[in-house]
Amino acid sequence: MSKQVQVRRTTVPQIASRKGGEPIVSLTSYHAHTAAIVDKHADFILVGDSLGMVMHGMESTVGVPLDLMIMHGKAVVRGTQKALIVVDMPFGTYEESPGVAFRNAAKIMKETQCGAVKVEGGARMAETIRFLTERGIPVMAHIGLTPQSSHVMGGFKTQGRDEDTWALHEADAKAVSDAGAFAVVLEGMVEPLAARITKQIPIPTIGIGASVDCDGQILVLEDMLGLNEWTPKFVKVYGQLGPMIEQAVEEYAKDVKGRKFPTEDEVYR
Ligand code: KIV
Repeated sequence: MSKQVQVRRTTVPQIASRKGGEPIVSLTSYHAHTAAIVDKHADFILVGDSLGMVMHGMESTVGVPLDLMIMHGKAVVRGTQKALIVVDMPFGTYEESPGVAFRNAAKIMKETQCGAVKVEGGARMAETIRFLTERGIPVMAHIGLTPQSSHVMGGFKTQGRDEDTWALHEADAKAVSDAGAFAVVLEGMVEPLAARITKQIPIPTIGIGASVDCDGQILVLEDMLGLNEWTPKFVKVYGQLGPMIEQAVEEYAKDVKGRKFPTEDEVYR
């Protein structure tokens, strides 16, 4: 008789309960193979719409279509067993009304089997966050630097440099928390503001270019692996995979040109 070992995925309540506790580890991932590696160490994996820029060479995340998010979401769910999978709702799929947001969030959850969605925006998205969570869709919020609004913000700019704006960001954090978001990403926000918000709200804050005091941290995987030529200055690069891949490709090209290409009877490992 065979015994099946069932691995349980991290749940939304488990992430929510980590407020003020052991820091929450998270990374983005867009493919089954990298997700399987990240799954060993991450509490949640975000299928971020940053994939438009990182993987598909877009100038911003604004052009990312819903179907692309669903395709990558499916791959990441297939490649993982343990982490909670959160899929970004792309620009234009949730801002219009709570009803439109519900229809698209339900499509993402049904087709990918992910555990939650993420939406950008603070107080202005509170009604939608409440609408979704009351109908069974867990929502992670995202405030501070919100890349989908980069055209309005005038680029990818750190938020909160002017202390007069702090009250607005604090109100955003309170609004999404009161509306039922189970966690909130604080992106590109000056350190003391992110630390203050973390103290003020009862849900975990996930920092990216924000504060070490956040309840968890997230980075774009390709940034921390050294795969992108440009990375934001707050990113610690933990591996130099870009140069390693280039070296491997160069050696391969030399082998092919020197007719040293492996044949069937040569064993390389
Ligand atoms: O799209 C993304 O990867 C994100 C993270 C940077 C938080 O939203």
